[in-house]
Amino acid sequence: MPTPDLDAVVAAGRRAIADAPDLDALREAEQAHLSRRSALGEVQRSLGGLDEAARRDLGRRVNQARTTLQAELAARRAELEAERDQALLEAERVDVTLPGRVPPRGAIHPVTRTIDEIVDIFIGLGYRVAEGPEVETDWYNFQALNLPPDHPARSMQDSLYIDSGNGREAGELVLRTQTSPVQIRTMQAGPPPVYVVAPGRCYRADTPDATHLPVFNQIEVLAVDRGLTMADMKGTLLAFARAYFGEERQIRLRPSYFPFVEPGAEVDVSCFICGGTGEGCRTCRGEGWIELLGAGMVHPNVLRAGGYDPDEVSGFAAGTGIERPFMLRSGLADMRTLTDNDVRWLTSV
Ligand code: DAH
Repeated sequence: MPTPDLDAVVAAGRRAIADAPDLDALREAEQAHLSRRSALGEVQRSLGGLDEAARRDLGRRVNQARTTLQAELAARRAELEAERDQALLEAERVDVTLPGRVPPRGAIHPVTRTIDEIVDIFIGLGYRVAEGPEVETDWYNFQALNLPPDHPARSMQDSLYIDSGNGREAGELVLRTQTSPVQIRTMQAGPPPVYVVAPGRCYRADTPDATHLPVFNQIEVLAVDRGLTMADMKGTLLAFARAYFGEERQIRLRPSYFPFVEPGAEVDVSCFICGGTGEGCRTCRGEGWIELLGAGMVHPNVLRAGGYDPDEVSGFAAGTGIERPFMLRSGLADMRTLTDNDVRWLTSV
């Protein structure tokens, strides 16, 4: 048997290994040049047929050739693996200079914002915030406000009564229909003078429509002091109307009836859309005026229910919904939108 040209076998193997462009090709080169079926494998297999001296000699050279090629293989594999890792790093590279994803920011609900705004106006006038429970007794919600049982004015407020089941009589507990009971609680809590605003949720058995919600918010104003008159009331409400609807506004009082005040009035604000002319104005329907709130001089019976002496002190009260002034100013057409939780709308107002 002719001596195989191991140098040529090694040279061919080296070339294949060096030329392998990626790890797959390298595996193929390994198969072709180092496996049992490769030229080197064939020489190795032929060793068995040689005499001892020739076998030892050729065996040593085959081993050398294999060692050489395996070293080349390992080196090239390390190279190709490094290249692959580098390519992966490039592909998955994070550009830290890109702007981040900004999480959506929460915001105050328009109703809460309106409450805050109105409260702030009164705080500026020296008032403080008062609160009362949403589940009220019939006494606070009606009787103490000069609305005895069976008084016809009760029918103005469709009430939701609570069956407490804890020893109270049926009809004794009611979801407050107005924030006016906070007037009584405030007077009972301390001596005059009082200057408070009381915002909060109210409830009525109304079917939701464009201008009614069964759960809505009101804000109550109560001022009791020595010698307060309707002029104080009008000045205060004018200051409020101007702060909320704009410096140009006027207000007017129309005689009206609320059981807890005498005299009582509906308070209108001059239209902030048409400036009060009414011409072709849809917001005030051509009136020039928009109904804003109810108000009046606190009825002597109400002062007495609060523990005050109507011969010593007098006062005025006012109350309005929160949703309505917001709708007026923002042009919102349907009150139900306020409870829809539609983020597209909520982020637009
Ligand atoms: N509580 C009345 C209502 O819900 C609003 C109101 C009117 C409050 C006149 C007042 C007031 O304090 O003086 O319709």
